[in-house]
Amino acid sequence: MIIEQSPPLRGRVRISGSKNAALPILAASLMTAETCVLRDMPGLSDILVMKGILESLGSETFYDNENECMSVNAGKINEFFADYGMMNRIRASFLIMGPMLARFGKVRASLPGGCAIGSRPVDLHLKGLAALGADICLKRGCVEATAEKLRGTEIHLDFPSVGATANIVMAAVLTKGRTVIGNCALEPEIGDLCRFLNVLGADINGIGSDTLVINGVEGLRGGDYRIIPDRIEAGTFMAAACGRPGGNVVLENVDTSHLRPVIAKLREMGAIINEEENGKKLTVSAQTRLNASDIKTLPYPGFPTDMQAQFMALLSASTGRGVMTETLFENRFMHAAEMSRMGAQVKINSRVAIVDGVERLAGCPVRATDLRAGAALVVAALGADGITEILDRFHLERGYFRLVEKLRGLGAFVREG
Ligand code: EPZ
Repeated sequence: MIIEQSPPLRGRVRISGSKNAALPILAASLMTAETCVLRDMPGLSDILVMKGILESLGSETFYDNENECMSVNAGKINEFFADYGMMNRIRASFLIMGPMLARFGKVRASLPGGCAIGSRPVDLHLKGLAALGADICLKRGCVEATAEKLRGTEIHLDFPSVGATANIVMAAVLTKGRTVIGNCALEPEIGDLCRFLNVLGADINGIGSDTLVINGVEGLRGGDYRIIPDRIEAGTFMAAACGRPGGNVVLENVDTSHLRPVIAKLREMGAIINEEENGKKLTVSAQTRLNASDIKTLPYPGFPTDMQAQFMALLSASTGRGVMTETLFENRFMHAAEMSRMGAQVKINSRVAIVDGVERLAGCPVRATDLRAGAALVVAALGADGITEILDRFHLERGYFRLVEKLRGLGAFVREG
């Protein structure tokens, strides 16, 4: 992606459906033999990989690119093994475990891949499924889970993992009896998964709290569901709007209740943010360079790790020193080295980055090392002098739908290289 020195961003942008809500919802479509129609489904490469995984298991899928709508029918599942070629491309592939186990009593899948941002184990997923009564066996890089009958139980997660919560919820929905999951993830994408499952006939209570109570049901029907707006895409556009003084961007199709930590941090740094239409729309502007601030990533509703890199780009051109602490993933500062090439002053010590703001970054060739690192380079480039060439653009295509088109709509000088 080539970004030439651009004017401050101005205009309107519509935020797409959430990737991280869509992925577990697609996995959940495996739990019913009837058709699921999923609206506001972004046509991202990660979504298309998940679509491919569902198809490899026997699902019939159709994606209407123009209307961003996917229909899935898992009425003829005939494969219970997902191989390395499929599973190593996205970590969310592992979310097929809970649904397949619950509906068919068996599944085998290669351990998953995904963004290289840390070791990313799946022990909490497996502990949860085992607690429900599954036999878990790890052999030659594959996990096999089988169960004659799962039984509802109480599970308390050691850590509120998003993926583990999703996998356990999905398994519990078709499990006889009552399952209580304590210390579960509070991320809005978990709430969206639960609401989707309830539309299909599941009985999940406590949505939005740290304890989910699931009364198992015999089976699920099909359903029609609209996916929540992507809070990380929204946050990225908010950051981009503030990257160069004078920006003024209206974001449509947002849910500001999911954006509290990002809104609060940007306001603290000097941005002006107005919420309209019951929190479905917001305007972001920044008249001057932002002030530095200290930021610590935490599980929701704390500051999202998926916004850490984009805020490092903002801190790099802010008016002081900001300390960024990453508590979720141990290897999520890879963008710092690339930003340093643009003139950023970042010192890293383990999970802490000290960022001293400079007046202006300078464009140069840089490489996206993962999805959000790529997004951070876009934010940095939009505020920088000169031309930035971002290599390995495919990372961005995993999580930002129609990014070039949307940025151009806001006046940025961006093109695909
Ligand atoms: C989800 O990943 C998101 N991915 C990530 O988004 C996001 O960064 C992350 O949640 C945190 O918000 C999807 O939703 C598809 P976790 P997930 O399980 O589910 C540890 C993006 O850029 N852990 O909550 O993998 C783990 O190592 C991405 O869109 C265990 O120790 O996150 C990490 O330190 C990247 N054992 C922490 O928990 C486990 O069994 C949080 O992981 C599971 C997780």
